Amino acid sequence: MGAHVRVPLKVILSGEHAAVYGHPAISAAVELYVEVEAEESDGDAFSVRTELGEQALGEVRATVTPSGDVRRVSSPGLGRELSYVASAIGLCTEEFSPPPAEVRIRGEAPPASGLGTSAAVSAGVIAALASLSGEELSRDRLRELVRRVELDVQGRASWVDPTTVTYGGVLSITGREFRRLDCPEDLVLVIAYSGRPSRTGEMVDRVAELLDSVGSVGERVMEAIGDLVLKVEGALESGDLRRLGELLDVNHGLLSALGVSTRELDEIVHALRRAGALGAKVTGAGGGGCAIGLFDDESRAETAAALIDAMGYRAYVTRPSPHGVRT
Ligand code: MEV
Repeated sequence: MGAHVRVPLKVILSGEHAAVYGHPAISAAVELYVEVEAEESDGDAFSVRTELGEQALGEVRATVTPSGDVRRVSSPGLGRELSYVASAIGLCTEEFSPPPAEVRIRGEAPPASGLGTSAAVSAGVIAALASLSGEELSRDRLRELVRRVELDVQGRASWVDPTTVTYGGVLSITGREFRRLDCPEDLVLVIAYSGRPSRTGEMVDRVAELLDSVGSVGERVMEAIGDLVLKVEGALESGDLRRLGELLDVNHGLLSALGVSTRELDEIVHALRRAGALGAKVTGAGGGGCAIGLFDDESRAETAAALIDAMGYRAYVTRPSPHGVRT
């Protein structure tokens, strides 16, 4: 008997980067998913097949030992998510010794796009291997394990991605504490991929260097983001999408101050605003990856997404998903 796990991707509505320094963040699971299937196999190693993103990104096949070493990989250049898979397999072996398995990972959105794919892949692999092993994993233990993988692979990380992909919903997260927020039903998001990968570990390090270099100015930007997040929470809870949009625009400015926007992301943000977004900003680590636009009308969001596609980027129209990991 095999295991099948579905994990949502996530966007950060407000508070990325500042979350790494203990400030709050607001994130939302969205209706874009990573699917992981695992089937017990003969042999002494795990065979892994990943297909993330649309065809152009291709497929990666690899063999991973139970201790998490990648033994063979078909296309090393495409295999960044493999470090997370390998680390997750090594961690599962330490925790509950799963049997060797064939693991298949699929997802529509491209990897390294700032949408939490790495956390979703880790959560999917861990939950699938736990299910094959008959191991009961509480959601909280799953999110702890996902965070351990993130720390192992990328060094510094907040609880935002592990918590959001595991629990789903719209969440206010401070450190490891989190709570669910109400979300207006008419909230629609356009997620636009800039075509350039975003490397979370690298971007977190770049921001750390900037903070070292500009000192208290950088700290004040982080504090401003922290204050903004509280206002975003208020706007969400009162269902005021116009106010929320205005706050997302300010958040984009603060992220630009931290140096994580790019020419492409700025172009997308401006195009989304011109197309009627109530607000738009970089989401996730930046340096590439995605921007989001906030809408209160599905057909306007579809029109904006078509415009972004026509500019040569890739846009998805989506909504927050209440679901986290599902087996
Ligand atoms: C990544 O989705 C968001 C960052 O704040 C890093 C983190 O919170 O771990 C850049």
